[in-house]
Amino acid sequence: MVTYKLLVILQMTMVTSQDVISIAQGMLRGIARDGYMSYTGIPYANVTSSMGRFKRAGLAPRWFDIRNPRTLTCSTVSAAEDCLQLDVHVPSVVGGNWPVLVWITGGSGPYNPGKLVQEGIIVVIVYHRLGPAGFLCLGNDKIPGNAGVKDVVLALRWVRDNIVAFKGNPAKVVIAGQSFGAAMAEAVTLSPMANGLYHGVILQSGSALCPWSFNYDAKERARALGDTSEISDDYIKTLQDSKIEDLVAKANKLDVSYFPFGICVEDPSKKEERLLFAAPYDLLSSKKDNSVPMIVGYNDNEAYVFVSILKEANVLKRLRIGASFLLPDDLKFLNEREHRQTGRQIADMYFKDNITMASVLAYHRDAFFTNHIHRSVRHHVSTSAVFYYQFSFSGDLGVRPEPGVRKIGAAHSDELAYLFYDGTLEGEEGAMQRRLVKLWTNFVKHLNPSYQSEVTWEQTRPDSFRLLDIGAELKMIDYPHSRTARMWDDIYEKYYYTRNKIAN
Ligand SMILES: *[C@@H]1O[C@H](CO)[C@@H](O)[C@H](O)[C@H]1NC(C)=O
Ligand SMILES: *[C@@H]1O[C@H](CO)[C@@H](O)[C@H](O)[C@H]1NC(C)=O
Repeated sequence: MVTYKLLVILQMTMVTSQDVISIAQGMLRGIARDGYMSYTGIPYANVTSSMGRFKRAGLAPRWFDIRNPRTLTCSTVSAAEDCLQLDVHVPSVVGGNWPVLVWITGGSGPYNPGKLVQEGIIVVIVYHRLGPAGFLCLGNDKIPGNAGVKDVVLALRWVRDNIVAFKGNPAKVVIAGQSFGAAMAEAVTLSPMANGLYHGVILQSGSALCPWSFNYDAKERARALGDTSEISDDYIKTLQDSKIEDLVAKANKLDVSYFPFGICVEDPSKKEERLLFAAPYDLLSSKKDNSVPMIVGYNDNEAYVFVSILKEANVLKRLRIGASFLLPDDLKFLNEREHRQTGRQIADMYFKDNITMASVLAYHRDAFFTNHIHRSVRHHVSTSAVFYYQFSFSGDLGVRPEPGVRKIGAAHSDELAYLFYDGTLEGEEGAMQRRLVKLWTNFVKHLNPSYQSEVTWEQTRPDSFRLLDIGAELKMIDYPHSRTARMWDDIYEKYYYTRNKIAN
């Protein structure tokens, strides 16, 4: 034991070079990059044994050697213990007390944060459980749900406790994500588990209100996964012991729209901290305190990524008979008449003499993205400073055009190509890269994206939903979809799934 301690001390005295950082868990070696250091694959929590699967993770492990950097790629089939790690990228110029951007990974990637870090912020990339490992939900003590979002909360606690060692400022932390990552970030803001751990939020192209991010029917999905009507102890044991690959394969066969598993409401538990006490919509409606400044926005042609799926599903042909088959899953109709009537309402709005791929994309943009993001903005704006945007830049990076369907504007994820590109772009593309990086890092530093910059990004207001259009130019505009938003409000007020519960 004594020799072991001596060995550790010896190691500590030998490694004084600045590429090694010491934190309570042990020592970490970094890699020098262009103007910054990267410390990658740092474990921030750990899941031990099959009993820990689906649950809040435990304490972060320690190590004794110097831990070398490692590259992670986490997917839905990754086992938890490979994924509860994060990367810290730190400016290597003289200075310190750096503001921190915590990026919650979604389905996309890789996230190369060089340009952001070179502006003088720390970027932390958080990997977490995904798919059934992260989001299977029975609401009970054994499989409480939301494990993937709880991972993110543990990562935020890790940042609070450790970021000083990287010269970061734990009092200046902005959390951000895109798509499902944005929905997770919003769920974090709705949870008491994360109180005080962040000071600003960025939500790109996603919300916890989107029908694809929140499972009001989580328990039904969990039962369907095992093709069982009853959740027995045996069934839970099988879930804990199955290979993750097998669970994912089964999940992919479920007859559900969008992702099989998302955010859910947890039941009261004495054994585990709860992330969400109610549905995101109810939490947002009653949101009062704990509000921080936010950037929230969407891309103007989000649904372009679905073109080939929509073609394959023969949507244009099916629309000639009616539009009700397109309605989102979180609407519940008590009878066929209501269903058909609502189908006619959306047909009148989007498809009147216009059954084209353009109108189908406009419908999907609103039904799955903008309408929900806008509803979320409307709630946040009553308690927070909200900087609202629309990304409409049609550049060479991002989602490639599909043959035969013109790509106008920006598809889902297109803005990531400019935020997370390490190289230097030329021309208009380069101008967009510099703008986006400047606005986002300004927000991380000053909680004001247009701090000392070429444009004034006004906060959006409850009486006039102004937003910044980020295209070939930067300009403030009115929210362009207020007419369809009114129709969707009407539909969601009448038919949101909670109506059945209220009626009972
Ligand atoms: C997490 O715990 C498991 C089981 O105890 C262990 O095998 C694994 O090495 C741990 N992971 C890390 C990153 O330390
Ligand atoms: C059809 O809908 C698209 C998308 O909303 C719109 O851009 C286009 O102008 C519409 N065309 C007609 C003929 O109304």
